[in-house]
Amino acid sequence: MSERMELVFASNNVHKLKEIQSMLGDKASVKSLDDIGCNVDIPETGLTFAENAKQKSDYVAVNYDMDCFADDSGLEVEALGQEPGVFSARYSGTRDMEANIDLLLTRLKNNENRKARFRTVICLHFKGKDHFFEGTIQGHIREARHGVGGFGYDPIFIPNGHERTFAEMSQEEKNSMSHRSIAVAKLVDFLKQQPLI
Ligand code: IMP
Repeated sequence: MSERMELVFASNNVHKLKEIQSMLGDKASVKSLDDIGCNVDIPETGLTFAENAKQKSDYVAVNYDMDCFADDSGLEVEALGQEPGVFSARYSGTRDMEANIDLLLTRLKNNENRKARFRTVICLHFKGKDHFFEGTIQGHIREARHGVGGFGYDPIFIPNGHERTFAEMSQEEKNSMSHRSIAVAKLVDFLKQQPLI
């Protein structure tokens, strides 16, 4: 009989936790930081998504001795040297997304190169080894906001092959192509191939 694998997701984002748990089904039980009694705001001081994701999963592996994964995501704009990147959440120096989007649109003003991509990197610390899974979606930045759905930079990002921003799409439509879904699907595939799950 197979056991149920226990994994920590170094996050308290209920939406992300639910999504990943439902993709893993009853093969694995995913615990949040709250679930394991970790109340620390784990530092993210890396200069890449991979460094930040590893920093978070290492923290749990070292302090709680459990297999763990963590993610880090952001928007990379080609004409801005891939900014805001790891600084996506606080690009303007605050967590105010209106200010973050305003700053990005100002910096891109009159620039014809509007190419951008969203990227997610997941680091899984599993049986003493680190494994990385990446998801990317290419697109471009609109001149102004469109749509009210989603979060973050969704109102100004149009994925390639589409004419609407992420904020104009339903959650399902965005999830069918998003950077996060691609990375999570790779993580889930990997876990499903492991013995005991
Ligand atoms: P996190 O690592 O998933 O928390 O993402 C960090 C920041 O990147 C968020 O605060 C957003 O500003 C931006 N971001 C990441 N994913 C998305 C997305 O799917 N849509 C819009 N913005 C995103």
